[in-house]
Amino acid sequence: MMRPGPMVRAPLIAAALLLSAFAQAQQAPTGPLLPKDSIEASVFRGGLVYANYCVTCHGMNADGNGRAARLYTPRPANLRMTDKNDEYIALIVRKGGEPLGRSGKMPPWGEELTSEQISDVVAYVRSVNVSNR
Ligand code: HEC
Repeated sequence: MMRPGPMVRAPLIAAALLLSAFAQAQQAPTGPLLPKDSIEASVFRGGLVYANYCVTCHGMNADGNGRAARLYTPRPANLRMTDKNDEYIALIVRKGGEPLGRSGKMPPWGEELTSEQISDVVAYVRSVNVSNR
């Protein structure tokens, strides 16, 4: 049997590509993969805030063992083990330790971070916290 020439093959290939694209579109989930207002998106953004503003003191694992932790007494809190609620965490992040009767070495971030960044970093802390499990 003769193999189909290019004039026959090209439309066949095009049809096959179209069919497979159509099949994929049918299977693909609808909407964005990480909706902006999902908790996963908030935790992801909060991880970036954490890496920029918190990691030197509270550490890569949020266990209070950052590079600078030994400079402070009391030491930066172990955020994996914190028993504080989201409101308290947001408050100490915004105002710093001192107005809450805690160490002034916990800086106030209210001027630096937007309220979205603060709620995102709270979501991140919640995601690594044992009481979350
Ligand atoms: C310069 C070091 C430093 C940086 C940077 C820092 N912290 Fe702290 N943080 C501390 C210290 C020290 C304490 C402990 C205060 C105390 O026990 O009196 C603390 C305490 C806390 C607490 C209280 C936890 C508890 O269980 O009571 C939270 C929550 C917290 N930090 C979150 C953050 C977040 C989120 C960031 C980043 C936006 C951050 N910290 C950046 C030093 C730091």
